[in-house]
Amino acid sequence: MCGIFGVVSSQQVQSSLIDGLSKLEYRGYDSAGLSILTANNKIKRVRCVGKVKNLKSLLVKSKSRGVCGIAHTRWATHGEPILKNSHPHNSKCVSIAHNGIIENADELKKFLLKKKYKFTSDTDSEVIAHLLNYFVVYHNDATKALIAVTKKLQGSYAIGGICDKWPGTLLVACNGSPLLIGIGNDENYISSDMHALSNKSEKFILLSDMEIATITKDTVDVFSQSGKKLKKTISNSTKSNIEISKGTYKHFMRKEIYEQYDIVVNAIKNKIGAYGLLPNIFGPNSDKLLLKTKHIHFVACGTSYNAALIAKYWIEDVTDIVCTAEIASEYRYRTVNVPKGTLFVAISQSGETADTIYSAKKAKTRGYSSLLSICNVPESSLTRLSDLVYLTHAGPEISVASTKAFTSQLVALLFMTMVLSRTSSLKNIEKTILKQLKSLPSILKRTFSLEKIIKTIAKNFKNKKHTLFLGRGASYPIALEAALKLKEITYIHAEGYAAGELKHGPLALVDKNLPVVGLMPDNNLVNQVLSNLAEVKARQGLVYIFTNKKLKNSKTDKTKVVSMPSCGHFVSPIVYVIPMQLLAYYVAIEKKTNIDQPRNLAKSVTVE
Ligand code: M6R
Repeated sequence: MCGIFGVVSSQQVQSSLIDGLSKLEYRGYDSAGLSILTANNKIKRVRCVGKVKNLKSLLVKSKSRGVCGIAHTRWATHGEPILKNSHPHNSKCVSIAHNGIIENADELKKFLLKKKYKFTSDTDSEVIAHLLNYFVVYHNDATKALIAVTKKLQGSYAIGGICDKWPGTLLVACNGSPLLIGIGNDENYISSDMHALSNKSEKFILLSDMEIATITKDTVDVFSQSGKKLKKTISNSTKSNIEISKGTYKHFMRKEIYEQYDIVVNAIKNKIGAYGLLPNIFGPNSDKLLLKTKHIHFVACGTSYNAALIAKYWIEDVTDIVCTAEIASEYRYRTVNVPKGTLFVAISQSGETADTIYSAKKAKTRGYSSLLSICNVPESSLTRLSDLVYLTHAGPEISVASTKAFTSQLVALLFMTMVLSRTSSLKNIEKTILKQLKSLPSILKRTFSLEKIIKTIAKNFKNKKHTLFLGRGASYPIALEAALKLKEITYIHAEGYAAGELKHGPLALVDKNLPVVGLMPDNNLVNQVLSNLAEVKARQGLVYIFTNKKLKNSKTDKTKVVSMPSCGHFVSPIVYVIPMQLLAYYVAIEKKTNIDQPRNLAKSVTVE
């Protein structure tokens, strides 16, 4: 994963590097570092374990000043998150920052050891620094050296480097990890994403795979790996310069949970007109394409995958279309059969998730009718790859735990279900979904009012080691999502199960210490879920039920029932996920964990 930011300017670049790097911290926060070429042409490197704010304090104390520099925020892959593994990595005259994974690092290390290079880290990235030094000395030409380095590397990389032989030049290479060049006034930048450039430059060049670049404050030269100078398109950023702050909230996660109300309201306002869903909301001629669709392959990771699972329930409920929902890291490596008339749908908040992008690249070669992405970030790698794009407009999601992105994806997928249902023999499905969607904002308001109750319940989870979440039908993926949220931010082991699977194994875990949460909208499956929960109670499990069904509890029954507002069948996953997000949030508050940046994780998973 990791984030790279670089600046070459006529002004000193320290604060610009820190500013850019802070905006990339969502990509990893295990360590941070930067290298600057000083006025007397020395490489000055400052690194720290932990966050960019630690780097900022170190930088104030250090004498690192200069007009050209690179910076890096790390999510550890090779080597522990300790100082020696922090980027940038130096090798005599060069310093580099790397995002990606070098697959042949061991082989390259053997080559470099023979050339008497000394390794000081456990990272795969350090080989890049030594290789670059080796080829700089060999060729005495920045472009030739970069080309030679990239010819040796196998794997994915975005590289930003500096070299004391070319003091006002950023050395850049890219393959399989994103890197943008921002064009400024009297200064230029490199960045892992557009967001970090937002207050600096509106024009940018996107580097493609196997391209290298040399960048000064006035010039940008991009080359192919064969050394051909390329004419690259300069694009204008359409991204608005949204100020990202917590406002009055203590954490981004709680703010983002509450933003779900507006996201739903706006989606309904913007996509539904006087006569129902607006035409072609999934892109040019998308309605026609959807109506011809016979199969759908949904591919995604994490929370976005859980959204895909729900879509499968919805769509197969109301159409003859055969849907599969698959985890991208599985899809990308297996043999996939693609029947005629199959649509590929990738779902991703960031649009930068490596496994999802590789899956989409694979899908492009497999004869799908089209590649549609449902994504929150307009200028992302995924949207650029896709034939059709639906932007979820959830606004920047900062908390690592995904909340508002999920609901915005579900609304998009319900819209898709509406279009697809036009082929259904069942009557009035589209109207029913529309009616339920329109009722959603007021139901959400009532759901948010459960916050106090959930806050109290959360105290009971604080000292638990494990939790089970159970659901049936479209509530089963909500059980998965609830478990994902809880484990992600509270570090409590949690599992989501299809309630009917309980007796096939997990029931063995149940005892008087195990909380079991039942998600039970009052629908055709309610009696089955109740039976499953009775099995838990019979074994003294601590049962919590979220339901809108009126339950008669005996006085001796210790079950805690949270009364949910009534809601329609189609929108129930959107309603029931809210208390699960709040539960995870308040358990994390109880446990005093780092809610927005949980340990070991990063917002955007840009490595496989
Ligand atoms: O950006 P994406 O939607 O592709 O991200 C996929 C997962 O990495 C993401 O949903 C992850 O599981 C979240 N941290 C869960 O809260």
